[in-house]
Amino acid sequence: MKILVCGGAGYIGSHMVKWLNARGVDVCVLDNLSTGHAAAVGARQLVVADLLDPGSLEAAFARGPFDAVMHFCARSLVGESIREPLGYYENNVVGTLNLLQAMQRHGVGRIVFSSTAAIFGEPIAARIDESHPKAPINPYGASKLMVERMLADAAGAYGLRSVSLRYFNAAGASPEGDIGEAHACETHLIPNVLRAALGVGDALSVFGDDWDTEDGTCVRDYIHVDDLAQAHWRALAHMDAQPGAHVFNLGNGQGFSVRQVIEAAERIAGRTVPHSIAPRRAGDPATLVASSARARDVLGWSPVYTSLESIIETAWRWHRAPRF
Ligand code: UFG
Repeated sequence: MKILVCGGAGYIGSHMVKWLNARGVDVCVLDNLSTGHAAAVGARQLVVADLLDPGSLEAAFARGPFDAVMHFCARSLVGESIREPLGYYENNVVGTLNLLQAMQRHGVGRIVFSSTAAIFGEPIAARIDESHPKAPINPYGASKLMVERMLADAAGAYGLRSVSLRYFNAAGASPEGDIGEAHACETHLIPNVLRAALGVGDALSVFGDDWDTEDGTCVRDYIHVDDLAQAHWRALAHMDAQPGAHVFNLGNGQGFSVRQVIEAAERIAGRTVPHSIAPRRAGDPATLVASSARARDVLGWSPVYTSLESIIETAWRWHRAPRF
């Protein structure tokens, strides 16, 4: 089996590449290295290419034939997407359109797509399942929902097989400590908490303590990157058996507040996390928690990292000694 992993040098993509390498799959990584790291993947696997540049996209497909594509490339920051919507639609929608057309030209009929909980907007249910209304409140979520629609239409018209996996809050790192979350401008909670514990950068800002939650801080459903990789692996097998466009929500089904994340990190690091309360961040819903019953039942997916501590422990190992 040969797989093209688009965005494979990024945070989630590189954990997928490691997962596939460990199972002997032939992997080619396409990445423009705008946020990814060449050091996160093997030099022989990497093709530096951009989905918005048709010439370089062809160069990546020339490494085929591929049995499937896994598509992790995206701009993915909610706040930035509100400030730069057209850049988000260009990168996430036009880029994916170019990829799907290249797949058509090269006869590749299967794709696993990284979608997001941000397609749902403000939740109207305690646990968000696949049928929850889709009403994104930012261009990032809207761009991902547009791609889900493109995949559904392409399944009907051309028989393209796809699985869209809607991640909740991806977190953690490879337990071996060789790869992990490394963004030039870090906005995510767990890395910022651990950096504050290490005294790297600024003290942590907690974005609001007046939300309608138990302790007033936002609640999220954290899911380990290797559990996301496991779901992609199972999605490949699912597509073999089932034509069409499929969607699954991926989370642990348990919500943790920002305060609970800070407390867990303090226990694991054995250090205090200096923090202060800041105003709410635009585009943040109060609570996002997944129902992943469908992924468990249909894909046979079962997350390994079911406790917040087990996820933060792997992230702590990485942040204490990042390799890139
Ligand atoms: N937060 C802080 N301080 C920080 C960083 C975050 O208080 O320095 C808070 C946020 O306000 C939010 C929570 O911690 O309440 C989690 O924030 P993240 O930035 O870690 O994650 P988000 O929930 O904003 O977004 C992530 C991904 C999105 C995805 C979403 C789906 O970045 O791509 O999960 O749940 F859409």
